[in-house]
Amino acid sequence: MMLLLVMMLCGVSLALNFCYDDERCDPYAWGDNYPSCHPLLESHHSPINLNRQLTKNGSLDSLNLEGFSLTPKGQWRLVNQGYSVVLEVGNGMQVSGGGLPGIYRTVQLHFHWGSVFTSGSEHTLDHLRFPMEMHIVNIKSTHPNLTSALEDPTGLAVLGVFIDVTSLHNENFHPISSALPFVAYKGQTKPIRPFPLINLLPQNNLAQYYRYHGSLTTPPCSQVVLWTVYEVPIDISWGQFDRFVSGIYATQEDENDQVLLHDNYRHIHPTYGRTVYASKDARLLTNSASCLTFFHLLNVLQLLPLLNL
Ligand SMILES: *[C@@H]1O[C@H](CO)[C@@H](O)[C@H](O)[C@H]1NC(C)=O
Ligand SMILES: *[C@@H]1O[C@H](CO)[C@@H](O)[C@H](O)[C@H]1NC(C)=O
Ligand SMILES: [Zn+2]
Repeated sequence: MMLLLVMMLCGVSLALNFCYDDERCDPYAWGDNYPSCHPLLESHHSPINLNRQLTKNGSLDSLNLEGFSLTPKGQWRLVNQGYSVVLEVGNGMQVSGGGLPGIYRTVQLHFHWGSVFTSGSEHTLDHLRFPMEMHIVNIKSTHPNLTSALEDPTGLAVLGVFIDVTSLHNENFHPISSALPFVAYKGQTKPIRPFPLINLLPQNNLAQYYRYHGSLTTPPCSQVVLWTVYEVPIDISWGQFDRFVSGIYATQEDENDQVLLHDNYRHIHPTYGRTVYASKDARLLTNSASCLTFFHLLNVLQLLPLLNL
């Protein structure tokens, strides 16, 4: 019944519970089907803009990223879920410390992106949006499953990593970017050989992050997330970025009207009374603007041929 209703609201071709690019089911309409996504009901939604009004907190050291430097056994799985590409990582990794109230086991990571011409990170730094953002999702170890974690105000810890685009190939990112063509359509999966997850993090700047209490950025928008957003982005190449923005569809392979998945980020929410902490070693955004310039230059260069200049 619910699904039928959603299909009618969103157009049968999409058949998603929610979407990003149709005003009948986009982030501003999520509250219609998922009341907990209604931003006026509560005060701690995500994402937010990270500005200079942060509270430095000297007790926020680097997190313990257990198992992140090892190559786990077994197999991981990359999945096109229609609203993102998700890497399901097996057991063996957990995060703690850095002010987190417990141990959180790592279950998956996924991505948010813009398009060839737009940036698509969820959080913004001084209102600047990065090309992409990666989320590493961790469930508090006292919960057997996601359902029970979503009932706990601090049930999830998500690590957010900004992704910038440069001219250089990122070999650490290759296991993911090279597998993207195999999951072009919704529902497709691709086995991935495990690798050390630390490879995807800003390894020289792990002590620099922001911390606040927020929500899932997709329905049901549960306000149960302790966010750790790293201050320094990782870099991937234009070609690796292009595999996301030009190669991933929100629709299944056999559908007549294909919809490219792009700009899959939720809008910024007010912080209201929340405190947003900066870790002991965070540098408070001092170098964040420069790293975006090159990306925008690239955008302009891409546009030039279209403008016949
Ligand atoms: C610093 O962060 C810790 C962990 O989140 C918190 O318990 C503490 O209250 C914060 N300290 C200040 C001075 O806000
Ligand atoms: C999740 O865990 C809770 C608490 O132990 C349990 O009651 C529930 O049945 C579990 N749900 C699923 C879907 O496994
Ligand atoms: Zn996310």
